[in-house]
Amino acid sequence: MEVIIISMKIKGTTRITGVFGYPVNHSLSPIFQNAAFDYLKLDYVYIPLEVKPENLKIAVESIKIFNWIGVNVTIPHKKEVIKYLDELDESSEILSVVNTIHNIDGKLKGYTTDGDGFIRSLKEDGKFNIKNKNVFIIGAGGSSYAICGALIKERVKSIFITNRTYENARKLKEHLKKKLNFKNIEIIEFEKRNDRKIWENIDLLINTTSVGMKENDPLLIEKINIEKVQFVYDIVYNRKTELLKSAEYLKISNLDGISMLVYQGAISFEIWTGKKAPVDIMKKAICEKIKK
Ligand SMILES: NC(=O)c1ccc[n+]([C@@H]2O[C@H](COP(=O)([O-])OP(=O)(O)OC[C@H]3O[C@@H](n4cnc5c(N)ncnc54)[C@H](OP(=O)(O)O)[C@@H]3O)[C@@H](O)[C@H]2O)c1
Repeated sequence: MEVIIISMKIKGTTRITGVFGYPVNHSLSPIFQNAAFDYLKLDYVYIPLEVKPENLKIAVESIKIFNWIGVNVTIPHKKEVIKYLDELDESSEILSVVNTIHNIDGKLKGYTTDGDGFIRSLKEDGKFNIKNKNVFIIGAGGSSYAICGALIKERVKSIFITNRTYENARKLKEHLKKKLNFKNIEIIEFEKRNDRKIWENIDLLINTTSVGMKENDPLLIEKINIEKVQFVYDIVYNRKTELLKSAEYLKISNLDGISMLVYQGAISFEIWTGKKAPVDIMKKAICEKIKK
């Protein structure tokens, strides 16, 4: 990943942050985090750091050794990293996943910002109020856990989950029941996801699967059902998916994953710097990179 830092100068005082991942060269975070540091003239830098699973422990120790301000953590370390941290915030404790580490005077605290990033994006960019709404979610992977947890915190009315592998949806439902005491969850078998009756009262449709990342990926929900919802959110961010094209065609309000990506990064930025993230600058940086 090429990172162009225009006016930033690395000095002895520069606070280092970055992202631990394997692979990591696809990460877009360096683009918008450095744009934000640069815009606010903060003496910080953000670098992609390739960390193989067998080196995770020593990589986490190095945050303390080099007195870095913290890092983001991405695939495949989001769960594994927990055992090397001193403390977790409430969401990462509940979801057993961390995507942000903050070094507070030598103590490492873990956070997960995906769920809150999703909610902030829905509120600020989507102008959509989630309280008391019925939500249909496709997918039961890591991002679905984070988004379901955040939706429940925001007092959503009910959640319908469909997933290619039924067992993963069942585990997600059990997790939400056990950890958050949320019982208004129904699993819809993947083959039955387009049954007309389900769609009569759905307010928000969210795709949390990777379907849509590739050009010929199918539309998982039929247009006749999409037409019934108030808002469509597809967290895929590398291209305009068939789902989003359909929502646009049907004139349904919608958002793509760039918005969530920026807000989850903005929350990490605010944890590290204590300053309000320049979200518009971050969005501009990423859009220039992706859409050029
Ligand atoms: N915008 C953002 O900020 C943001 C943040 C995180 C992730 N994402 C994006 O969200 C997507 C999922 O990420 P994740 O971390 O949740 O991944 P994950 O934990 O690997 O989960 C992947 C999900 O996609 C489903 N899936 C994969 N291929 C499928 C197919 N061909 N048909 C139907 N379902 C399929 C999986 O179903 P099974 O259970 O059957 O395998 C699972 O539910 C990725 O595109 C990622 O880039 C975006």
